[in-house]
Amino acid sequence: MPPSNLPNLPGTPKELEGVEKALLALSYGVHVIGSRATDGTMNAMLADWVMQVSFKPRLVAVAIENDARTLRYVKETRVFSVNLLHEKDGIEVARKVVMPAEGRKIKGRSEEAAAVVHDKLATIPHSLAANLCPVLDDALGWFTCDAEQFVEVGDHTIVIGRVTDGDILRAGEMLIERDLGWEYGG
Ligand SMILES: Cc1cc2nc3c(=O)[nH]c(=O)nc-3n(C[C@H](O)[C@H](O)[C@H](O)COP(=O)(O)O)c2cc1C
Repeated sequence: MPPSNLPNLPGTPKELEGVEKALLALSYGVHVIGSRATDGTMNAMLADWVMQVSFKPRLVAVAIENDARTLRYVKETRVFSVNLLHEKDGIEVARKVVMPAEGRKIKGRSEEAAAVVHDKLATIPHSLAANLCPVLDDALGWFTCDAEQFVEVGDHTIVIGRVTDGDILRAGEMLIERDLGWEYGG
């Protein structure tokens, strides 16, 4: 604890608490990033950190954890899909994709459990877009991208994707993180 007569300097625990709270107050939509490896294996990852970053050409940025299987797949095939979860039932889809594909990514797993690779798409109805990435039947909408740039930023890599196709599948609005009940940020 710093002496009580000092001003609240940046980096003190109190200040950090405020920073974390402010970052957690940012609003996000809830997405599922679909990807595939060169051998055709697919994956689906829950993601908040997705945004459009250019009109002409249409570019989006997605921040992906450096040790995510999704990032490996996107680097391999240079394509991915973004599925926008629906406000009505997106939470059920989110529950199926929130765990990492690889058991080893979860701390404290036994050696046996760490070796397990979970097929998150096995119980999620989906089809394939023209770029062969998964489009979820229950999504509000989707778009596909060609990955054009990979920018390493701390513990994530920003993937810049050129939007190649997309559509809206259902009426309604997107699921937002506040209604999901899980947080990603801070
Ligand atoms: C609400 C929520 C939002 C998330 N958003 C992101 C995100 O934007 N980027 C990311 O890399 N991971 C995000 N994650 C974590 C990934 O979904 C998680 O690490 C995932 O297991 C990695 O998947 P993979 O290894 O199967 O590719 C989020 C998790 C939650 C609960």
